[in-house]
Amino acid sequence: SLPVPNVQQLASSSNVVPIRYIRPELKLQRVSSDDEYVQVPVVDMSKLDGNDGGELAKLHSACRDWGFFQVINHGVGEGVILKMKADIQEFFSQPIQVKMDSAQLPDSIEGYGQAFVVSEEQKLDWGDMLFIITQPINRRNVGLWPKIPSSFRATLEQYSTELEKLARCLLTSMARNLGLESEKLLTTFNEGLQGMRMNYYPPCEQANKVIGLAPHSDGSGLTLLTQVNEVQGLQIRKDGKWVPIHPIQGAFIVNIGDMIEIMSNGEYKSIEHRAIVNHKKERLSIAAFHNPNANVMIGPLPDILIKDQKQQAAKYKSISHQDYMKLAGKIKLDGKDKGFI
Ligand code: SIN
Ligand code: FE2
Repeated sequence: SLPVPNVQQLASSSNVVPIRYIRPELKLQRVSSDDEYVQVPVVDMSKLDGNDGGELAKLHSACRDWGFFQVINHGVGEGVILKMKADIQEFFSQPIQVKMDSAQLPDSIEGYGQAFVVSEEQKLDWGDMLFIITQPINRRNVGLWPKIPSSFRATLEQYSTELEKLARCLLTSMARNLGLESEKLLTTFNEGLQGMRMNYYPPCEQANKVIGLAPHSDGSGLTLLTQVNEVQGLQIRKDGKWVPIHPIQGAFIVNIGDMIEIMSNGEYKSIEHRAIVNHKKERLSIAAFHNPNANVMIGPLPDILIKDQKQQAAKYKSISHQDYMKLAGKIKLDGKDKGFI
């Protein structure tokens, strides 16, 4: 990997946007008018066990027809979320020397830094990140966890625990919807990696020419997203158009990752998405990736391949999550640009 500038410093030192960030192709693709307003499904998790199965059916179509949805009444305490938001905002507002205490180590994306590039020509994203592995505990590199603010580590630990619970809860309902015994899906996630990508997108004078996070689909199993401040920017590709997501206060945005697409033999889709930046305001988000066990072979689940007592063809090969991530950027799943985690 090659060194990439710190975007927060770049943005605060000059109004000139270096050419490597300018994306001429964006102009054609940008959505701006409210005519394009489409809201992704909102699933009320307190109703998933309801007798009529209505909310469960809503979750199923959200996973199948959208791959992106929001969850409310998800059981994660409001206090935990607010504290996480406050602490990550405080971290990114620290002087560079403080943030560099958590700097990425050579050839690793974990820590504070930027996404990898492999060539001098490659376009760059207008954003910095702090990526931290939070689970399993023996995979933690605690030296990279910020010490400032002083509550950061405890907050992240609590946030991690609660989000893992939420992810498992969603996977249980998804297994039901797919006609699977929940254990068959959940055990693939045992000792799986949970990683948190905390994104910081500085404002940009030429916001409509740069991109915060380039289009990609997540290589994860399931991703739980939080928008940290009021600035929106997440867009998903739906029927060939870029559709903005309008986060509901207190909700999580959930998206299906490539691993679930594969396990469900394409019934659930891992959708391409991107993040745009704001002219005047910084934007922050947290993506929590929940991945299957690194060494378990992931392929279409045998029980999924039997429909109406007939054997269906597998649309995907089997691969471990670890090997899949090594191939990141080199392969495409169903035409999508494979992306992060
Ligand atoms: C975001 O900034 O809204 C999250 C984008 C992502 O993690 O894919
Ligand atoms: Fe993503």
